Amino acid sequence: MKSSRIPGFYKMPIEERVRIVKEFAGLSDEEEKLLLSFHALPAEIADRMIENVVSSMQLPLGIATNFIINGKEMLVPMAIEETSVVAAASNAAKMARPDGFKAKAGEPVMIGQIQILNPSKDAVEKIMERKNDIIELANAQDKILVNLGGGTKDIEARMLSNDMLVVHLLVDVRDAMGANAVNTMAEAVAPLLEKITGGKALLRIISNLAIHRLAKAEVIYKKEAIGGEEVVDKIVKAYEFAFLDKFRAATHNKGIMNGIDAVAIATGNDWRAIEAGAHSYAAINGYKPLTTWKKTEDGNLYGKLEMPLAVGIIGGATKVHPMARLSLKIMGIDKASQLAEVMASVGLAQNFAALRALATKGIQAGHMKLHAQNIAVMAGAKGEEIDIVAKKMVEMGKIRMDIAQEILNEIRKNKKV
Ligand code: MEV
Repeated sequence: MKSSRIPGFYKMPIEERVRIVKEFAGLSDEEEKLLLSFHALPAEIADRMIENVVSSMQLPLGIATNFIINGKEMLVPMAIEETSVVAAASNAAKMARPDGFKAKAGEPVMIGQIQILNPSKDAVEKIMERKNDIIELANAQDKILVNLGGGTKDIEARMLSNDMLVVHLLVDVRDAMGANAVNTMAEAVAPLLEKITGGKALLRIISNLAIHRLAKAEVIYKKEAIGGEEVVDKIVKAYEFAFLDKFRAATHNKGIMNGIDAVAIATGNDWRAIEAGAHSYAAINGYKPLTTWKKTEDGNLYGKLEMPLAVGIIGGATKVHPMARLSLKIMGIDKASQLAEVMASVGLAQNFAALRALATKGIQAGHMKLHAQNIAVMAGAKGEEIDIVAKKMVEMGKIRMDIAQEILNEIRKNKKV
């Protein structure tokens, strides 16, 4: 049976890592070449994705190892510029083995909003009387979606003020992120809503507060696996800090999004929509952490993440960006709900890793090594010089450009001798 537990993965040369990922995911020679090329996005595709294209902006794509999600071994591609995130996720996933994460994504129902100005007094009732006609008109816009079992399933209407009403179309978007389908439907039903309400439609657009499209992940960390009951207690206290304080909750949730956004970017998903959904959901009853951590009766650590995850695997960049398609293949994902489940699990793992580090040795220790390597490169170190300079700076506890330059000069001087 294949395993995502790959000891020493981080130490291997890139070619070896790619070979392992190829074998794990059954990639073709072409796909292996694409990974190794570090140039996955051809100009002609980029030029059709957005306007005024002049180049592409690359990010490193790393693989988080050790994940088991709903019993399945998974390698998770993460695209991110921040050091330590991939290592932290892999470590957190390792400590959760052999049980791993249990995750469940709900039905992919998105909300389309239609704003109506100056409606009649009985507009809400009239809308409800004509509910079936409105749903029928919305669904006439996307026969393919309806044939796949999706489409507008229900509508809601409420007055926001004396002269403003909002109608929600509740649209099952199946494997899409859903913005296109929902926005088309919202625009299509607006004239009918104007007729029914006697008002004037203004905005017609999806809501990113996707409360009907929640994904949940859960994990139990055995106390022995994470440093004992004392660490469990500290993590619970760290969570309570975020629960009690918005300033901390913002950073706590940022750590969760480090993992979720990285998978979203690797798969070509709209991470701004996911961010908007995450933080508006966190703020629904006063801003709170998106995760919960508790000590179980036997002294282990139970964690849960629940948040909206509006992600798709068809349409947009997920379909056209070769690396996005490859990322889905590496994870063996063929349903949007599976992707949401992976993201929720990675977010939970990421949060655990951050809380454990913060509550024990502090966050900087883990950051230092790669940070030192970056500084070494900036100071002009090449090849094996990079590791030597970085190691020396970490030993000295001084990670600075001037120190890197000094060490580098020293190495080069000694080489000449
Ligand atoms: C840094 O990108 C993320 C953390 O600040 C998250 C946290 O504080 O929980 C480490």
